[in-house]
This record gives sequence, structure tokens and C-alpha cells, in this order.
Amino acid sequence: MRLKKIILHRDGIHFGSLILVNRFYGYREQKQGALLVPVLEQEPQILMQRRAAVLLFHLMDKINGWQGIVPVSGWRSGREQEEIWESSLKENGREFTETYVACPGHSEHQSGLAIDLGKRQEKIDFIRPEFPYTGLCGIFRRKAAEYGFIERYPRGKENVTGIGYEPWHFRYVGIPHARIMEQNELTLEEYIDFLRQFPYGERPYRFSEGGQEFWVSFLKMPDLGEDRAEMEIEIEQAHPYWISGNNGDGFVITRERSRYGY
Ligand code: DAL
Ligand code: ZN
Repeated sequence: MRLKKIILHRDGIHFGSLILVNRFYGYREQKQGALLVPVLEQEPQILMQRRAAVLLFHLMDKINGWQGIVPVSGWRSGREQEEIWESSLKENGREFTETYVACPGHSEHQSGLAIDLGKRQEKIDFIRPEFPYTGLCGIFRRKAAEYGFIERYPRGKENVTGIGYEPWHFRYVGIPHARIMEQNELTLEEYIDFLRQFPYGERPYRFSEGGQEFWVSFLKMPDLGEDRAEMEIEIEQAHPYWISGNNGDGFVITRERSRYGY
């Protein structure tokens, strides 16, 4: 088994497709800005991070989704989230706003990893678009996790997410995480916590599907002291891997075992 060394930077905790953004964990703007692209040619103002947009494109292409679905809201700047918050407070009051609009600085729309989708129809509510369980919207839901998307604010988990039931809001977390979360009915809050049982270097969480096997582990960033911002870890050279921060205290390390395996 050949190992190679990689460097993890403390700031990396705040980036990647698995960052948890909620009322406790704010979104950290990236210095160089995330690479944002339109999700649909006809809607050039609705943006997502490139990888999320590409996966959404493939999913929509597969089910011919844009025929019956419209993108309603993708990436938002911090200022835009603030404007939505303020105008909802005036129009809908505090209780509604706290249920359906994340506090400015704490919206995952600011990360470019979230998208609100609506059923294509004449009148579309910007804050609470209709996105039913039937028709094309239903087909989208059943396929979403395969392409890395989760329904982020499910019914019954309002106390965990801190947000009301939002059947229109989807979050890109990537593969295999979306499938694991779907199968185990875990919100992102619960999944990030669940992975703590699998510290890097010990037994990983193993997930197999369609001939692919993934190992998922959590690496808690140790306290490095003031003058050090980096740590070194070793990883097997033979397999593809990817790493995301959790936006709190460490990294999720995902390794694909099936490709180039023994
Ligand atoms: N509607 C979601 C919670 C947001 O504003 O980010
Ligand atoms: Zn949303």
C-alpha cells in the first residue's frame, strides 16, 4: 500500500460540497469567490457552483426536467439575502420569515450549493414555490440523490434544521453522500454528526452501490496553535479521493475503493 502526503489548510474547513450552513454555522465568503455558472441558458441570472450546476444539468437532461420545472433562486449574495430577509419581515412578519428565510450570512444559497425549484406555471411564489411529489417534480425528487442533491429541509426535521418544511429547496452535497443521507433519512446536520463515529485512520463508513464502493471518514482538525495553519495527512495513492470541510471543526474524506482497486 503506497501512501502519499497531503496538506490540509485550516481555512479549508469552510469550503467544499459538504459544508454545513445553518443558524449556528455562517457562510464564509471565499477570497477568490466560488466559480459560479448559470444553471440554465435561458435564466442567466440563476447561478450555482460549477460542479452543482453540471450535475443539475445532467439530471435535468436525463428526465427532460426543464419542460416542467423552473429554477427560482440559486446563488445569492449576502446583500441579496439581507434584502429578502428585510422585505419578508415587512410583508410576512417575523414568524414566517424565521421559518422560511435563513438569517443573512447563514443561508446556504450564499454558497452556490443550493437551488429552489418550482413547478413551471404562470404564478410562482419566490419564497415558497410549489414543488409537488407528482409529475416531473416527483421524478426529479426520486432521481435527485443519484446526482448528489438532497431535499434539505424535510418535514418532521424542522427542529434539527431550524427551518420550516421546504419541499422546493435542494442542496448539492455530492456522491455518495446524498444517497447515504437519503437511505438513512438524515439531514445534513445529522449526517455531519453521524460521520464522527468514523475517524480517519480507523474504520471508515462503507457504502456500496452499483458496483462502486466508497469509504467515508471524518478528520477533526487538531488544535494547531496560533502560528500553524496547516496539517499533513497520509492517504493511499491508488484510489481517487476528495475532501470537503464541514464548516465547523474538520474535514470529510471520501475515498472511492472500486476504481483502480486491488
Ligand atoms: N429558504 C432558505 C432557508 C434560505 O433562505 O436559505
Ligand atoms: Zn432555498
